[in-house]
Amino acid sequence: MAQLWGGRFTKETDQLVYNFNASIGFDQKFYEQDIRGSQAHVKMLAKQGILTEQEKDQILEGLDGILKDVKEGTLAITSEYEDIHSFVEANLIERIGDAGKKLHTGRSRNDQVALDMKLYVRDEIDELQGLVLKLMETINRIMGENLETYMPGFTHLQKAQPVTLAHHLGAYYEMFFRDYSRLKDIRERMNTCPLGSGALAGTTYPLDREYTAQLLGFREATRNSMDSVSDRDYVIELLSAMATMMMHLSRFSEEIIIWNSNEYQFVEIDDSYSTGSSIMPQKKNPDIAELVRGKTGRVYGALMSILTTMKGIPLAYNKDMQEDKELTFDAIDTTKGCLALFEGMLATLQFKNDVMEKSARHGFTNATDAADYLVNHGVPFRDAHGIVGRLVLYCLERGISLDDMTLQEYQAISPVFEEDIYDAISLKTCVEKRVTKGAPGPAVMKEVVEENKRFIEEEKKK
Ligand code: ARG
Repeated sequence: MAQLWGGRFTKETDQLVYNFNASIGFDQKFYEQDIRGSQAHVKMLAKQGILTEQEKDQILEGLDGILKDVKEGTLAITSEYEDIHSFVEANLIERIGDAGKKLHTGRSRNDQVALDMKLYVRDEIDELQGLVLKLMETINRIMGENLETYMPGFTHLQKAQPVTLAHHLGAYYEMFFRDYSRLKDIRERMNTCPLGSGALAGTTYPLDREYTAQLLGFREATRNSMDSVSDRDYVIELLSAMATMMMHLSRFSEEIIIWNSNEYQFVEIDDSYSTGSSIMPQKKNPDIAELVRGKTGRVYGALMSILTTMKGIPLAYNKDMQEDKELTFDAIDTTKGCLALFEGMLATLQFKNDVMEKSARHGFTNATDAADYLVNHGVPFRDAHGIVGRLVLYCLERGISLDDMTLQEYQAISPVFEEDIYDAISLKTCVEKRVTKGAPGPAVMKEVVEENKRFIEEEKKK
């Protein structure tokens, strides 16, 4: 047991207590952020004359050495240390001697862990943004290729009106676009540096907190030291954003599972993204989509867990807050994994345009347009609705679609129908006439795809 404290204790910590209390098993994940934070702190201490230049250089070099050795695997992070902070400090003292003992001047593990977690979360937000953007790019590419791929649009999972594949996927683009902008917002709001807040009440050393903040790429130093050491809002915000992202991925997965089913056959998942059955030789299962759908629960769970942990904590730091890490790390890794796999599955997904179009032709997806035809010829909409309802019933009894009826049959139900009804209810007309903002008309969707492309290119430059 290597601890940073012990002076006021007369007994050794019980082993079970030590194990229960220790966080090294999981906070080692941010060893790099911990070292980066310490290096900025030391530079600031030297600038303020609290450490000598020589001490600073010694410490920086020692920390660089630790970072390199851990990265290269020659220095193992073991459970001999209580947490990652103790590990780094003990190793530093071992390497450079007395100067190492000055690293923790004007700092507490409370502001240190608050910093490490922020640096870690900020780095992960950057990665998540990259992954969401890549997914948006893939969706937009498929949209651009399918501006005129007709398919049925559904409500209640019943065929409703014809749309295009571009339009359907465009709905998911919007969801991931919002996810992307949420990540941006969170990053901006959280980008303040807690280091220098001490245990809770700042320090008496003449620290230059803005300088530390600047060295670590923060917008500014935090404004209240008690809040700084006990704020985990940004963790909650990120978990909430990831929960929403997973909900979107899960809905999309569900849709792909349905489309990939033997009954629909709208898509075929690539062999490299499917799995087989140990007993049924014919099976090709959409396991990846199912797993993405399934893993959504883990991320929701992490959000509920941290919200519950935080709700009873009085100011300022309390050890409960150590619980912010494991589930958050898991949720981040889960979400990143799902985003990457889903993107790969989507990029290789084969869309069966002919099946989708055939499906759109049947199931009366043009019934609304037949009613609109009557309205355009002076029939009040409510009456038109009733007339087309009768047409549909007539077709159902004969197993045909609206397009198959003769003009005589149409006119027997309403004399308003003329020869141009066929054109008015053709799939092409139904889709192409919908040209208001947000509608599936290919001309409108083309502009959307162009706009998306410009956005993605701009973001990639950042
Ligand atoms: N392992 C702790 C955590 O994750 C670090 C902070 C410890 N501070 C303390 N006063 N014991 O929250």
